Amino acid sequence: MATILEEERQTAQGAPVRMEIRDGLAVVTLNDPARPVNVISEGMLREMGEILERLENGEGGVRAAVIVSAKKGTWIAGADIEEFKNFAAPADAEAASRAGQEMLDRLEQLRIPVVAAIDGAALGGGLETALACTYRIATDSPKTKLGLPEVQLGIIPGAGGTARLPRLIGLRAALDLMLTGKQLDARRAMKAGIVDEVVPQTVLLEVASRQAMALAAKKLQPRAARRSGSPERLENLLPMRKLIFSKARQGVMEKTHGLYPAPLRLLKVIEAGLDKDVRAAQEMEARAFGELAVTPEARSLVHVFFTSTEAKNDVGLGDDVKPKSVDQIAVVGAGFMGAGIAAASAENGIRVRLKDVKPEAAAKGLRTARESLIKRAKRKKMRRFEVTKLVDRVQPTTEYSGFHASDVVVEAVFEDLSLKHRVIKEIEEHAGEGVVLGSNTSTIPITKLAEASARPDHVIGLHFFSPVEKMPLVEIITHEGTADWVTATAHAYAKKIGKTPIVVHDSPGFYVNRILSPYMAEAALLLQEGVRMEELDRAMTEWGFPVGPVTLYDEVGLDVAQKAGKIMAEAFADRMGNPPTVIDKMVADGRLGRKNSKGFYTFGEDGKKQGPDEAVYALIGNPPKKETPRAELQERLGLIMVNEAVRTLEEGVLRSARDGDVGAVFGIGFPPFRGGPFWYVDVTGAQTVLDRLRALEQRFGARYRPAKLLEEMARDGRKFFPDAA
Ligand code: 3HC
Repeated sequence: MATILEEERQTAQGAPVRMEIRDGLAVVTLNDPARPVNVISEGMLREMGEILERLENGEGGVRAAVIVSAKKGTWIAGADIEEFKNFAAPADAEAASRAGQEMLDRLEQLRIPVVAAIDGAALGGGLETALACTYRIATDSPKTKLGLPEVQLGIIPGAGGTARLPRLIGLRAALDLMLTGKQLDARRAMKAGIVDEVVPQTVLLEVASRQAMALAAKKLQPRAARRSGSPERLENLLPMRKLIFSKARQGVMEKTHGLYPAPLRLLKVIEAGLDKDVRAAQEMEARAFGELAVTPEARSLVHVFFTSTEAKNDVGLGDDVKPKSVDQIAVVGAGFMGAGIAAASAENGIRVRLKDVKPEAAAKGLRTARESLIKRAKRKKMRRFEVTKLVDRVQPTTEYSGFHASDVVVEAVFEDLSLKHRVIKEIEEHAGEGVVLGSNTSTIPITKLAEASARPDHVIGLHFFSPVEKMPLVEIITHEGTADWVTATAHAYAKKIGKTPIVVHDSPGFYVNRILSPYMAEAALLLQEGVRMEELDRAMTEWGFPVGPVTLYDEVGLDVAQKAGKIMAEAFADRMGNPPTVIDKMVADGRLGRKNSKGFYTFGEDGKKQGPDEAVYALIGNPPKKETPRAELQERLGLIMVNEAVRTLEEGVLRSARDGDVGAVFGIGFPPFRGGPFWYVDVTGAQTVLDRLRALEQRFGARYRPAKLLEEMARDGRKFFPDAA
């Protein structure tokens, strides 16, 4: 049957939607030739409208239909996010939402059963299309994922999803999916009650066709109809429902501090719509979609989507630069980072040699990697043989055996230059000529590391963030001599393991730590000035960071922060001034943060962070005394980071403002609804940012000196991104 799908894939070339009717069965194939993925664009809506009309008219004696995609890896990726940029007013977005709703209402109301045959992503409007079908079959391909990620774009589902999903799978489960935007593979989607069947890719069309005809002959009932009413009847009781919504609202406020309007509006729309019919519920949905789509938050989040996708897809080198394929790697240093890199690689089909000098260390690293893989495998509901195959991809070693076959070697040993030099030499003795030599250093210049190499053009930085399994960013650091194919291979490797890479030029702190450093130093200075620890943290979480700077000190480790701070203060001595003494005092007092349960905060026996440790104030020698307005704290901390980001672009450390926004959002958690430091400058206005920095420079000195590039942008009225509002 693979051949039929292949055949459909080929014959569908040229037409975005195509229908073939054979023996009473209509196979509707989606394949937008103008786009890399199928999206619900204006054009697609038009085409679908024509197909629906033919089905409504019973063309060719059609008794059932199947919707299939001819695009590998996606069924439907949702509404066309490109078109969001054209929404000038809420009414434009509301109209787009209504058009989607109407199309899906027509689909749902067809007299014949329609089977969604899902292979690849069915997200947003894609899943909403599937929800309007009678029956859903999904493949067990790793590319198949179902979800409603709209809140991540600052909007809510706008094609009937807020009305249909709770009615299909119950309120609590639907809220969980819509509030988090999480994506389910086929098995989890089946467990959740979204999908009726899971099948291998090769038989999708065959099974879907058979089931469509069985539905038409009333020999099969869709799962939803087999249940009586809402799947969770208890949830329909009013007090229970109220409780669910109040808990959900509380959860959203805790997570977002009310900075993101979409999840709160989503709750309102669903709550108000539950007692109404689907049509009335959709009215509210369209209105909310319209209003949300033009908010600054949504525009910033759409910017984050496009910039991160572009960074992933564009290495920024000519088409003639070809990456090497990466199927096997080796990792030297089986510590927490090394094990994390090994696990992330194995999870994405790469064989890994994990090396450490001592057998115990290699075994411990292996255990850490395997535990992480098993946890993920469980979440994906993998079968036992699949799990075995997965964990076996990581093999430990204390020697350099197997290195000759590696496409990439990542060194993740202790941050010590002479040790790293020795390791590089050893790797080169054992690895093949064409190996890419990546270093996971966070502080040592790649240029210096390359000095020990016999093939310096193969040396590159591969800066992962901790914990590797969760952090999406990889900084790829090139030095003057790095060969282009090496950069392309490092980029392809990072992408293959599901990370978002940005390519930056070698410079102290690279990009992410470079912009984090003045921010952290400023936080320490504010503590010295007498601002309370928790006040500083609150100021920045309310600005939108996931954690505040004082908590971040504890998480990163004060010794690590001390070392990084010194390097940066030396590198930029002309304007950074002396590093704040607070951190030295903390380290001297044996306070390393979370790792020894002693930092700015106290930690319980279970390792959980508790309240601020009041003893710290005596240590600083300056009891809390200052009531600095929160807005001032936010301005001092936010702008020092933004200004440093602009400097990195000015100096050529960054290749583009795009990479700067991606790095800040994905590496540090710069508030996504602010779009990243460069988008922030555009939205706030370069002149306004410049004026504020100048005022801060007057009060606090050279560390707030505005970047030259910022002055130029303000003078010329330029923007980093022309489409920034
Ligand atoms: N609209 C417009 N362009 C889209 C798109 C969309 N919904 N989804 C993907 N694309 C584009 C990407 O920008 C990229 O373009 P490029 O090649 O020019 O850089 C191209 O398609 C390929 O995308 P990826 O590189 O991300 O391909 P992957 O195979 O890695 O991932 C995907 C595919 C899982 C579909 C991923 O692209 C994705 O998550 N897309 C967004 C899904 C989403 O958020 N959908 C909800 C949209 S909002 C909505 O539906 C509202 C509705 O409720 C009314």
